[in-house]
Amino acid sequence: MKTLWVEASPKQDRSLSSAMAETFLAAAPPDAVGQVERFSVWSEDLLRFGRDAAIAKFAPLYGEQRTDAQEAAWAQVLDEVERVRGFDRVVVSSPMWNWHVPHALKAWIDIVVQPGVSFTLNERGEHVGTLGTGKPAQLILTRSSAYDGRHPELQDFQRPYLEYIFGFLGYDVTTLVVEPTTRWSPEEREAMHAESLETARAAGATW
Ligand SMILES: Cc1cc2nc3c(=O)[nH]c(=O)nc-3n(C[C@H](O)[C@H](O)[C@H](O)COP(=O)(O)O)c2cc1C
Repeated sequence: MKTLWVEASPKQDRSLSSAMAETFLAAAPPDAVGQVERFSVWSEDLLRFGRDAAIAKFAPLYGEQRTDAQEAAWAQVLDEVERVRGFDRVVVSSPMWNWHVPHALKAWIDIVVQPGVSFTLNERGEHVGTLGTGKPAQLILTRSSAYDGRHPELQDFQRPYLEYIFGFLGYDVTTLVVEPTTRWSPEEREAMHAESLETARAAGATW
């Protein structure tokens, strides 16, 4: 059993979503989690999906020969998808950034979502995920405002996007949201932090 923890906050020890993911994983039954790999999407080693990768992606469709640089970029894309495929479960912790996800998480998603590699079309022409294949994906999401109807002028693209994309890849998605995370006094912040970790612990225990 192997679990991939995809960490989207760059704040490390100051991140609430990362602390919640750590607590969630520590509380989960060891057999359900197995070996955990903590993977920050802010890693410097991650492929920067740019010109070569973008052209390489569509080359077979257009009947084009990939250049060496495009082949090299594409090999890194395939390696990353296969690395992810090697895990039995996925936990994604992410703050909301400008109503969506941090750009580093989106950049990683641009690497792993690939036609014919992580999703395909079935005989009816419908898109089907081939990466998740029914494996559990737990989303752990934080945001400083409330998106539960208290502020109808604010729109949430974080939760629906992540639920869509991991569902699209074939994962069985469950979501834990903590909001609103902004508190004005240190005491309130501490209480919110403790409460959030308790929520994560309770959710993890039933994973
Ligand atoms: C660059 C940036 C953009 C943000 N944009 C939003 C936003 O659009 N809506 C919101 O509710 N919170 C927003 N926040 C607040 C974070 O989502 C919130 O503080 C969250 O709890 C941080 O989680 P973390 O500690 O795991 O990084 C933003 C924070 C940053 C740093």
